[in-house]
Amino acid sequence: MGDGIVNKDSDVTSKPHEAMAKYLAPDLDAVGELIRTRMASEHAPRIPEVTAHLVGAGGKRLRPMLTLAAARLCGYDGPYHVHLAATVEFIHTATLLHDDVVDESSQRRGRPTANLLWDNKSSVLVGDYLFARSFQLMTETGSIKVLDILSNASATIAEGEVLQLTAAQDLATSEGVYLQVVRGKTAALFAAATEVGGVIAGADEKMVNALREYGDALGIAFQIADDLLDYWGGEATGKNIGDDFRECKLTLPLIKAVASADGDERAFWERVIEKGKQGDGDLEHALELLELHNALEDTRTEAVNWADKAKKALEILPDNPLRYMLRDIADYVVARLR
Ligand code: IPE
Ligand code: IPE
Ligand code: MG
Ligand code: MG
Repeated sequence: MGDGIVNKDSDVTSKPHEAMAKYLAPDLDAVGELIRTRMASEHAPRIPEVTAHLVGAGGKRLRPMLTLAAARLCGYDGPYHVHLAATVEFIHTATLLHDDVVDESSQRRGRPTANLLWDNKSSVLVGDYLFARSFQLMTETGSIKVLDILSNASATIAEGEVLQLTAAQDLATSEGVYLQVVRGKTAALFAAATEVGGVIAGADEKMVNALREYGDALGIAFQIADDLLDYWGGEATGKNIGDDFRECKLTLPLIKAVASADGDERAFWERVIEKGKQGDGDLEHALELLELHNALEDTRTEAVNWADKAKKALEILPDNPLRYMLRDIADYVVARLR
């Protein structure tokens, strides 16, 4: 572990997940090594081709870092936080392979998606392989509690994705349903990532609960921010802009704009979202309506509120540089929206 890289004064202009990566470098190197050895397959060359393409493109490794940070913050000194961090990244990578098929996305991590380079079949099957590998990894820790948390999270992620699928094109989708989708598809893994770090360290219930609450609120803030960036663009995201609109997804900015729509605007939303009939200029018009009703700014405020909730959960955790880095990460996921 490194020392003294982050001080108590928040600096959200730098990238706190990079500061954390530096601080946790030996642990993170071990996770990278474990991922590389376990993503291979002797028998099906398509597997290492696809996994090397996606894993080689990097990714922020945010979730495995959360697991490592939670474990270290709770004083863990054993080897299994590395297994758990790799498990979490495998689950994440598997869901991304599946998600890009479902969303028909063509770009991920600044590269063409696996479904585009190979095909949907390869993405689905290699995603399944990574899921299965993640379960092998977590059993190696010998902790039933950890298995319980991560298997529940895996089921919840799938539920969130399916709920989102059935809510698409439905203009009646409420902010409550949106929150349920986001909690499922994204926050469940963040919450499990931080929780298992505390559990493997043998932390007391109060600390484990705080870690889970932090991960849940951070994950929600993160996904609201991601949904906003789908319209807002912001910094280079390495993904397509306007994907959610094209897929007729009711994300928070859209739900807010629909709630404020007058008659003409309602007719526009019915055509482009409910009927899915989109043409040139529709995305631009949608953006104008989002601006008109302050939907982007209101969505940003909600993301900031969830980030604040995440930071609040950290308060009972030990006073340690990692706690301040976790706080800075919560600030960062919403600071990228400015
Ligand atoms: C992408 O997550 C999927 C979402 C929940 C929005 P990340 O932005 O953490 O993806 P990588 O791993 O860094 O590419
Ligand atoms: C991310 O969902 C995938 C999961 C959390 C399972 P999205 O579809 O919203 O994310 P991106 O924009 O493709 O990364
Ligand atoms: Mg997607
Ligand atoms: Mg998706």
